[in-house]
Amino acid sequence: MTSPSSDYFFDVYNRDDIAYGMEPSAALEEFLKQAARPSGKAVDLGAGAGRDSIALALAGYDVTSVDLSDRGLARIAERAVQYRVSDRVKTQLCDVREFEFPRESLDAVIATTVLDHIPAADAETVWQRMCDSLTDCGMLYVQVHTTADPGCDQLPGRDRDVPVSETADAVINYFSPNQLAAWAVAAKSRLRILRYEERLEWDYTHGSEHQHGKAVLLAVRQGYHPDWFGQPAVFPRRNSAES
Ligand SMILES: C[S@@+](CC[C@H](N)C(=O)[O-])C[C@H]1O[C@@H](n2cnc3c(N)ncnc32)[C@H](O)[C@@H]1O
Repeated sequence: MTSPSSDYFFDVYNRDDIAYGMEPSAALEEFLKQAARPSGKAVDLGAGAGRDSIALALAGYDVTSVDLSDRGLARIAERAVQYRVSDRVKTQLCDVREFEFPRESLDAVIATTVLDHIPAADAETVWQRMCDSLTDCGMLYVQVHTTADPGCDQLPGRDRDVPVSETADAVINYFSPNQLAAWAVAAKSRLRILRYEERLEWDYTHGSEHQHGKAVLLAVRQGYHPDWFGQPAVFPRRNSAES
């Protein structure tokens, strides 16, 4: 058990209006709609209060939600009951650096803003474990804060005169331009990119409205070709009434 004082995210997860809301990450949500396998094993690293974990469970995955915040994991368990997926969601209080990744066994690995909460060298090690844990039909979704974030002490974020997140102090490893893309195309990652972007976004899900700089990656195991029409779907099949 972590105590509230050692849980940096306790307060933001303890609110009635739980931080990060309930909307899953957009590209992940689109993948689940278009291409998810009807069942499989998923791990959500730094799962927080579970917006992505619950979306994965609703899509049919058996999910392990990993986080260092007891309060966040308790909110995930509550939400799993509320959404009637508690049989598909397991929580694990664990540092992502200590998590035992099974080799070539996971159908989905999610890391929505956690690789930027650990030192750079550890992030690279965890990344490789994530890649090695995917099955031949595995999917990987990763989001990280970049040096464009106004909380970053490097350029260009440092010069952005916009409000900073209340939890910016937890981000200690801002990714540089193309860094996550370079990891994704490295031969040893064995991935095929479905979507990658670096963007600014406004965050209204906790504290006062503030801006982020993010890199967002959706990828699958090399050689895997699920149905994927983009996010948003571009030129999806028209229904017969329209054709
Ligand atoms: C910005 S929050 C994102 C939460 C969630 N992924 C989402 O997008 O809603 C980052 C989360 O990572 C967790 N975290 C930070 N460092 C961690 C570590 N080393 N191991 C496990 N979880 C960690 C925090 O407790 C927090 O819940």
